[in-house]
Amino acid sequence: MIRTATAADAAVVADLARRTFYDTFAATNDPADMALHLSHAYGVEQQTLEIADRDMTTLLVEEGSDAIAYAQIRAGHLPDCVAGPDPIELWRFYVDRAWHGRGIAQTLMDHVQAVARDRGARTLWLGVWEKNDRARAFYAKCGFADVGEHIFLFGTDPQTDRVMVTSL
Ligand SMILES: CC(C)(COP(=O)(O)OP(=O)(O)OC[C@H]1O[C@@H](n2cnc3c(N)ncnc32)[C@H](O)[C@@H]1OP(=O)(O)O)[C@@H](O)C(=O)NCCC(=O)NCCS
Repeated sequence: MIRTATAADAAVVADLARRTFYDTFAATNDPADMALHLSHAYGVEQQTLEIADRDMTTLLVEEGSDAIAYAQIRAGHLPDCVAGPDPIELWRFYVDRAWHGRGIAQTLMDHVQAVARDRGARTLWLGVWEKNDRARAFYAKCGFADVGEHIFLFGTDPQTDRVMVTSL
């Protein structure tokens, strides 16, 4: 089941977000940068603020009582290389490792795009780490095109994200 997260989900989203970020990037990054990023990006207080933020939508995917994936759409941020009309950002998109390659990501992407359209967006953009081959392949499979790059500060490490865009 996919639904919009509410304040009551903040702890579950924080835990899932922290775990999936760590699983994805721990092996290929400095532990100190990882610890710094985790400490300021994830926690009940932080996710409570995000879920309440009217410029964002947080989608949560559940299988029975388990939270297995989430995505967040965010308005108000735009790199220069995104040119399409009425843009919105797909800020975070994470599927728990056990569910990779099982179609959850595609289903969640369909929901993300429907929610973005409902918010009046006509362009969906995202930043993805240049070394995250699986995610880049997945987004390309979903119709996103590479239009440029921006810098993502991971702890103290400025990393290059590819910026990808699709029309809604
Ligand atoms: C990115 C993510 C959402 C994609 O979901 P998924 O279920 O793994 O995606 P799929 O298996 O349908 O597609 C991934 C594509 O990557 C490619 N791929 C698969 N395994 C790969 C690997 N180990 N390395 C590189 N590419 C790979 C394949 O082309 C595959 O498409 P195919 O099945 O048509 O051949 C999911 O892997 C994930 O949550 N990863 C961790 C979090 C993350 O990186 N989020 C994105 C942050 S920007």
